[in-house]
Amino acid sequence: MFNSLEDKFINQARELKRPPDHIPGKTGWECPSNIALVKYWGKKQFQQPLNPSVSMTLQQSRTVISVDYLYQPGPEKLSLSYFFEDQPHSTFEDRYLQYLQHVSKYLPFLQHTELIIKSHNTFPHSAGIASSASSFGALALALCDMERNLFGTLTEESDFIEKASFLARLGSGSACRSVYGGFSLWGKTDAFPASTNEAAISLNSVIHPAFRDYCDSILVIDTGEKSVSSSAGHRLMEHHPFAAARVIQVQANLRKMLIFLQTGNEQAFSALVEEEAFTLHAMMLTSRPGYVLLKPNSLEVIDRIRQFRNNSGLPVILTMDAGANVHILYPARLNNQIKPFMEGQLAEFCQGGKIIHDAIGMGPVKFL
Ligand code: PMV
Repeated sequence: MFNSLEDKFINQARELKRPPDHIPGKTGWECPSNIALVKYWGKKQFQQPLNPSVSMTLQQSRTVISVDYLYQPGPEKLSLSYFFEDQPHSTFEDRYLQYLQHVSKYLPFLQHTELIIKSHNTFPHSAGIASSASSFGALALALCDMERNLFGTLTEESDFIEKASFLARLGSGSACRSVYGGFSLWGKTDAFPASTNEAAISLNSVIHPAFRDYCDSILVIDTGEKSVSSSAGHRLMEHHPFAAARVIQVQANLRKMLIFLQTGNEQAFSALVEEEAFTLHAMMLTSRPGYVLLKPNSLEVIDRIRQFRNNSGLPVILTMDAGANVHILYPARLNNQIKPFMEGQLAEFCQGGKIIHDAIGMGPVKFL
């Protein structure tokens, strides 16, 4: 019926009749972070991905957000007080206010709402783990909940999550995948007809049981600020000499990834996840100007993980985000073999010996 989700949500927004009274309310959501297996890198149009991506949603690394709101009919008045870890945070407040202003075209009631947002992460903010996916995921879910409370819309779970994913994407691309537990796909690919650049979809119904209990242990290599932010990195893809080749490669990789995830081919999955991580960093190295986010200790642990895998024959998979940290993915049944290896041979290369043991999670939770 609609050509795009953009059209759909703009149209639906016109239908939202203003409640006549002042309506106060509260909502609270926890939303996890996610780790990409096929990496999104580069944008086109507004917050649309240059290529499709697949991710696994985590369990422990979450943003917890509570929103107190007061809807008041009358003149437009959108206001926000933002607290991070119980302290006012003007940088985040400005960023979120700008975001709220932008998404008010899909949620017009926001223009008549005063919001108090309190947020914290369950992972240390100095761990080099990006919090934009979990925080925009949590905020988008809270906004959809406000719409549902005020207007009685979005009562179907699938409608609710689709809009939350669409709104989360507008804050941070990878956030749109975090509104689902398990595995998600974001970006148009012929291999999956329901896929779209405007929101993520869940892959859980097609995932082989071999991947249902994967763990992700995050080796915290460097907690300093990155020399080049992800936003700047995405922009460098616009004139990247290998951008066209990367798009062809990643479309093929995505097809393969879907097959491996469906058939339970752990060995092929492992090789592909690593190829994607190294290609992501290769795109950074060969940007103009090029840059390096990996640190000597990242390379040391990568080397050791590969040696351990060769010697043990165990499916120990490594991946990286746009940063120096290294993620180790493995099935839960190998916990007893892999954890001692990490503690004994890798922890010394992590800042403060820090390793965050996370795993695949069930997705966001509403707590208010
Ligand atoms: O969502 P952003 O703009 O923070 O970009 C995330 C990009 C990667 O984490 C490197 C890859 C991905 O698909 O999540």
